Amino acid sequence: MTTHSPFRPSFGVSPPLLAGRGGTIQAFATSLDDPTGSSLSVSLVTGHSGVGKTVLLNKLEAISRARGRLVVAETATRGLPARITADRLHPPSSGRTIDVLITIDEVHGGDIDELRTVLTTCKAAARGGPRVDVVVAGLPPAATSLAGQRALPLLRDAHRVELGMIDHDEAAVAIRVPVERAGRTISDDALAKAAAAARGYPFLIQLVGHLAWSRRPGSTTITSADVTSASVEAARLVGRMIHEPSLRRLAPPELGFLEAMAADDHPSFLCDISARTGSTPGDAEACALWLTEADLIEPAGQRRVAFALPYLRECLRDTR
Ligand SMILES: Nc1ncnc2c1ncn2[C@@H]1O[C@H](COP(=O)(O)OP(=O)(O)O)[C@@H](O)[C@H]1O
Ligand SMILES: [Mg+2]
Repeated sequence: MTTHSPFRPSFGVSPPLLAGRGGTIQAFATSLDDPTGSSLSVSLVTGHSGVGKTVLLNKLEAISRARGRLVVAETATRGLPARITADRLHPPSSGRTIDVLITIDEVHGGDIDELRTVLTTCKAAARGGPRVDVVVAGLPPAATSLAGQRALPLLRDAHRVELGMIDHDEAAVAIRVPVERAGRTISDDALAKAAAAARGYPFLIQLVGHLAWSRRPGSTTITSADVTSASVEAARLVGRMIHEPSLRRLAPPELGFLEAMAADDHPSFLCDISARTGSTPGDAEACALWLTEADLIEPAGQRRVAFALPYLRECLRDTR
């Protein structure tokens, strides 16, 4: 039995078991193997921070490499067009046509010109013979803004993959299987508690798993008591590592809006927020838009808004 935790609560680091993404991965693999597939395909992966965009890209890259494709993995930082050049997509030394996967992680709303140049390069490369698949990933507001740009028709027509939270049963598998593979067990009630505490949020699946494992690493079984204390610490850490830094950057009206939302146990009606904060409906709406673009809240239908990530409500309640 190893005493090292198998869990990976770090951004960009692949988990021991990638839960809930089987359909997306299978569809990607099938499309790569489809000889009638078009020579250029563009996909846009969206999801809140910590939901697993980067590790999904890692997986698609591994699948492509295993099929002998050239993989160009990039992040959308300044100077992207200089890094994704025609030569790089079509290495002259290879002497034969090699299909290519290009991944571009962390796109943001300000990338229009650079992305347009890159997509033009990809399109030209696909005309030259190889099959080119481009997968672009970003937060929902950035991706929505880019996909709405007339100047980026390839992104507008891209295949959309929206990564959401993972359901309870799949979260439980993502915790139980790594524990068992590493030589320990987890009791049924402990597992149910851990999956519930993770609330389907992939980063928390890793964090709760890791903390529960680390309570008594030398014992054979992870118990309900281990998970109870791990869950309390996980909620606190998510607040400290993710939510508090975001809240510190907010101006008083936006912070007041979120605090007013935290009074509800469910998605909030904009009219209630405007009444609680004493702001006009127009100001409340502008605030909601700003917070949506900052990826802190999301529309929840019928003029309602919800927190984008688990434990943000609790963090606001605790720190005020
Ligand atoms: N499908 C998944 N199942 C289990 N854990 C996951 C899954 N996707 C991501 N994770 C874990 O969640 C964390 C965040 O993943 P990451 O890809 O960095 O998110 P994003 O790029 O969306 O911010 C990492 O610790 C990763 O191991
Ligand atoms: Mg990422």
